[in-house]
Amino acid sequence: MIHTTFGTTATADRYIEVSQKEQLLDLICNGTLDNTPLLIIGSGSNIIFTRHFNGTVLHLTNKGITLRSNDSESDSLLVEAAAGEEWDTFVQHCINHGWYGTENLAAIPGTVGAAPVQNVGAYGLEAKDIIHSVKAIHIATGFQRTLSNHECQFGYRDSIFKNALKGQYIIWSVTFHLRSTFSPNTQYKALSDALAQQGITTPTARQLADTITSVRWSKLPRPEETGSAGSFFKNPIVSAEQYQQLLTQYPDIVAYPSGDQYKLSAGWLIDRAGWKGRTMGHCGVYPKQALVLTNLGGCTGNEILALSDAITSDIQNKFGVTLQKEAIII
Ligand code: EPU
Repeated sequence: MIHTTFGTTATADRYIEVSQKEQLLDLICNGTLDNTPLLIIGSGSNIIFTRHFNGTVLHLTNKGITLRSNDSESDSLLVEAAAGEEWDTFVQHCINHGWYGTENLAAIPGTVGAAPVQNVGAYGLEAKDIIHSVKAIHIATGFQRTLSNHECQFGYRDSIFKNALKGQYIIWSVTFHLRSTFSPNTQYKALSDALAQQGITTPTARQLADTITSVRWSKLPRPEETGSAGSFFKNPIVSAEQYQQLLTQYPDIVAYPSGDQYKLSAGWLIDRAGWKGRTMGHCGVYPKQALVLTNLGGCTGNEILALSDAITSDIQNKFGVTLQKEAIII
């Protein structure tokens, strides 16, 4: 049985938990992973199952967080974390050891191995900003490859693992480029407001991570209380021309420059279209953040898909903008 943070369970032809590299290499060498659709999951925080998975689910549970190098002159650290580590366990471990740089990504559900795939990001930081390299195992041959940050071709919620290398590699560990001196990144407005409210001007790493954690849970449902997959949609990127047209019609539209294009707030679009807090069957649009679809109890993957389709076509009709799902639908 496969569990997801959305709160549904699913079945697959085969479910294998892997905690040791030798175990994974054995599976590759003895052909277990041949001729079978393969789904690699961490903690199931970004997956919605609509059906039985006709293939093999590989659940990575390898552990370990290791300081690989510490260059005191340049203040630079390399820390390698196993793919199966929970992301927030990794963040807290780094803060506790005085390895700085991960704080803004505190409290994100999911695993270390999933972070590079969709380049997770929040509160002014993306995983790509701190990833040094990724060690991945080639599924067809068992060879290990180390991809540099550049080779990962990171983009907004995107990487080579969702494109050219999709389905070809299993991420085994991620090495992060961190610092031994703390320098807070407090540009994100909701974050600087929350710090100001507490009268904090220069936060410690612990204060920063704790503030981010409370800002996060003031807007998003806690997975242990309400089933969700975090942001269900990506913030859509549109041309400057389309943005200007929308701005004329909707002067309060929320958008951020992204190169020579604009990233629109999908939450704002869905909110403005009147979906916030609405329910459909056993699922709904989270009342505090319209980008999040929630399981109200007993919701199936198909129900959530129906709600997401209804929202997507409404946003297309009202704003001429195509929403893309961040969540992976099986
Ligand atoms: N907004 C609304 N109504 C809403 C939601 C948002 O008007 O219902 C507007 C508000 O103006 C708000 C702005 O949109 O100030 C931005 O909202 P928020 O700070 O919540 O950020 P977001 O763009 O909606 C993204 C990430 C989140 C991440 C936050 C914080 C994506 C798809 N989502 O959301 O990531 O936590 O920024 O940095 O990029 C996730 O990926 O699962 C996730 C939660």
